Amino acid sequence: MSGLRLDIDLDKISDNARHLVDSAGSRGVSITGVTKALLGEPRIARTLVAAGVVALGDSRIENIERMRHAHISAPMLLIRSPMRSQIDRIVRSNTISVNSELDVLSALAAAARVCGRVHDVMVMVELGDLRDGVVANDLHAVVRHVLRLPSLRLQGIGTNLACRNGIEPTDDNMDELSRLVEAVEATFHIHVDMVSGGNSANLGWMMNTQHIGRVNNLRLGESVLLGRNPLDREPIEGLHTDAITLVGEVIESHRKPTRPWGRSRQSAFGEALDVSHHQDDRGEIWQTIVAAGRQDTDPDDLLSAPGLAVLGASSDHLILETSAKVSPGTEIRFEVGYSALLRSMTSPFVIKRLGDEQGTRSTVAVSSRRGSATGAARAPKLTLVPKLSAVRSHGAQPVE
Ligand SMILES: Cc1ncc(COP(=O)(O)O)c(C=O)c1O
Repeated sequence: MSGLRLDIDLDKISDNARHLVDSAGSRGVSITGVTKALLGEPRIARTLVAAGVVALGDSRIENIERMRHAHISAPMLLIRSPMRSQIDRIVRSNTISVNSELDVLSALAAAARVCGRVHDVMVMVELGDLRDGVVANDLHAVVRHVLRLPSLRLQGIGTNLACRNGIEPTDDNMDELSRLVEAVEATFHIHVDMVSGGNSANLGWMMNTQHIGRVNNLRLGESVLLGRNPLDREPIEGLHTDAITLVGEVIESHRKPTRPWGRSRQSAFGEALDVSHHQDDRGEIWQTIVAAGRQDTDPDDLLSAPGLAVLGASSDHLILETSAKVSPGTEIRFEVGYSALLRSMTSPFVIKRLGDEQGTRSTVAVSSRRGSATGAARAPKLTLVPKLSAVRSHGAQPVE
């Protein structure tokens, strides 16, 4: 298959999801599988459901509708507060929505009433990351509002950390969530079924805490797809970090000086380099260009073991240092971080290849996995992946 592509290995995603579902299950926690990074791709959704997630979560109603049109009937959670302009679609797609605004809840209730439905809501509470959610003092007012509207049903209370400010889920903030839930239950004489404690950043807390409290659900995206802990991007033991890889094609490979020459102004992306100090002069090096750029991915978020280094990128060119000439047409494979994945998934120029379809040309597999420098061997299941380094570094090692 030609062109720049994302290879998406459903077996590895399934392994990751099953492993996380089992680990969480041992702590009494269910998993909502978050599909947004793969745009609600129905085969991914089915893979997650088969792996045992209790619900699917997505931030975009378009992705939820896509999954519904593909006849996926699992419970779905809209993990971003509804836009007023999309209220009808949200109610009609039989979605649970996260909420923190009284007016939006009233609009959801009105739309649900018109359709003769009851709409489920999860009220989000702010616990320090300063993204979304009501502050603790306002939680009772919002819950009271939901309970007074007969076409709404309080399905759960949730929180989200480690997204805007990287605030870590700890016993302190998770205990606070449990206390808030119990206070709501005592005040309103109800039982809150789902207490959704957060995202992939909660996994370390979940596995190690002595106080799981009332938390009985996590919403997981990055850990399932990329096998990494968002708090430090380290691999999570037992998970594949190469379930999704970006494969690009070499279009040029020449020996060139390390340093640019001529008068230096801003680059295409507004960077001004000091040509005299920017980088050590290591003389001529092999500079190999892959046909991929900022329009296709985040070049600063591609990962590899030593073997090559990203020197720079423009909209359409990814410039690597390699130890030797690499023939045009050779494919080079990268592990992706979350930012690279999001951009590649949404680029129309990146082919998405799901499953086990094999390409025909030889591929230089740039992988963290020891002893897997070529793409020929299938990686063993559930191998612990050693620490990766970002490829944006100097001093490339040979590409084997
Ligand atoms: C509310 C909410 N829950 C869960 C997730 C999933 O986060 P992660 O991919 O870190 O597991 C996100 C982000 O995508 C989110 O915004």
